[in-house]
Amino acid sequence: AVPVLTIDGPSGSGKGTISRLVAERLGWRLLDSGALYRAVGYAAGEEGIDLSDAEAVTRCAQTVKIRFQASPDGGETRVLVNGHDATDELRTETAGAAASAIAVIPSVRQALVDLQHGFRKAPGLVADGRDMGTVIFPDAAHKFFLTASAAERAKRRYKQLKDKGLSVTLAILQREIEARDERDASRPVAPLKPAEGAVVIDTTGMPIEMVVEKVFAVVRP
Ligand code: CDP
Repeated sequence: AVPVLTIDGPSGSGKGTISRLVAERLGWRLLDSGALYRAVGYAAGEEGIDLSDAEAVTRCAQTVKIRFQASPDGGETRVLVNGHDATDELRTETAGAAASAIAVIPSVRQALVDLQHGFRKAPGLVADGRDMGTVIFPDAAHKFFLTASAAERAKRRYKQLKDKGLSVTLAILQREIEARDERDASRPVAPLKPAEGAVVIDTTGMPIEMVVEKVFAVVRP
């Protein structure tokens, strides 16, 4: 089978950046599963669907067209939702909150399973998310779970959003992130937790290169 390496963890744990770097170094594909949930939340919002209407959101998840497109200038991968480049909209904390709201609906998660499995192609896949090692790729060759203190995670997200020109305040962001983590960890379906056999890395105060080294120490000892 095509090998999979899963990287799960809460917001701001560094999994997005680490997943990208690990995929680049291995020459493997990358699945940003959070972007799929963000895209569904966004598409539902665009259609005027009430995010608590499970049936309507599920229909949206089943029909929405999500495409990842390498940026021509080597920059950030673009995400096309129903043909519209929604990359900028998907980054916002509003989109993160919408994603977390619709991610509690089991039939929405179900609607995204085949799509996620489809990313498993030679030579290998790095899968970034909340349930990659627990639910979507339980047979993954290597599983990681990244964490960091809540304060540090909020600071990282703050910096990320500010660097992208989005205006937020640290205190509000920290509250939003804590609320989202709480919802992700306490939901009955696919709650955020380390997969069995996952290597847990606390990245608090750790530079990115060191986290990457820790991953490769396991993958290529
Ligand atoms: O970048 P950040 O970690 O803040 O968010 P993300 O990875 O884009 O995920 C946004 C939201 O989607 C999360 O808060 C989860 O509720 C949901 N999600 C999920 O339920 N399962 C996944 N595999 C990925 C994301």
